[in-house]
Amino acid sequence: MTETQAATKERPMSTGGDPQGFCLWLTGLSGAGKSTLAELLVGELQHRDLKVELLDGDIVRTNLSKGLGFSKEDRDTNILRIGFVAHLLQRNGVGVVVSAISPYKDVRNQCRAMMGEDFIEIYVNAPLDVCESRDVKGLYAKARAGELKGFTGIDDPYEPPDNPELELRTDALSPTECLAKVLGLLEERGYLR
Ligand SMILES: Nc1ncnc2c1ncn2[C@@H]1O[C@H](COP(=O)(O)OP(=O)(O)O)[C@@H](O)[C@H]1O
Ligand SMILES: [Mg+2]
Repeated sequence: MTETQAATKERPMSTGGDPQGFCLWLTGLSGAGKSTLAELLVGELQHRDLKVELLDGDIVRTNLSKGLGFSKEDRDTNILRIGFVAHLLQRNGVGVVVSAISPYKDVRNQCRAMMGEDFIEIYVNAPLDVCESRDVKGLYAKARAGELKGFTGIDDPYEPPDNPELELRTDALSPTECLAKVLGLLEERGYLR
């Protein structure tokens, strides 16, 4: 290997010689900005000719997890399904972006265990009052009115990650600034040049 090659950060390669897959796991309250960032990430990664797939909580719940509700058990099942599919893709060299509230620490850690160091947990964090004031889908209003039971942050817990690979305060950073931070982390870890 030449000195130049040694100094160039190579993207990690899987055993098959393909680019190493990864999973960007965006967790946070409803309205924190997960889907917004996920869409930006997918666009940017596709632009860089990576194989990319998005698993957004809302979309998964209308197909893969159709019929599941919001009890602790159903939420865990939903997240484990997402983690399972994310792993299948990630181990085949895909850059997976997950955007799902995924409120429980334990089950997020089970997903981490499936993917090891290719699991990159990103805490998309804005204070509850900020998320609530955004209320794009009117869900907080419904939860406050008691029309929606077990809503995360209102009458169901959100357990923040203890050691996320990245925390993004979306009340302080714009979506583009958040995107830049994630891309920086991917570069640092050798997934992107
Ligand atoms: N970094 C940000 N700064 C300011 N507003 C944001 C940011 N990210 C998202 N938003 C806005 O917050 C609202 C909720 O974003 P969304 O991505 O749908 O959240 P989530 O998927 O976490 O529920 C949207 O109106 C979006 O435009
Ligand atoms: Mg969303």
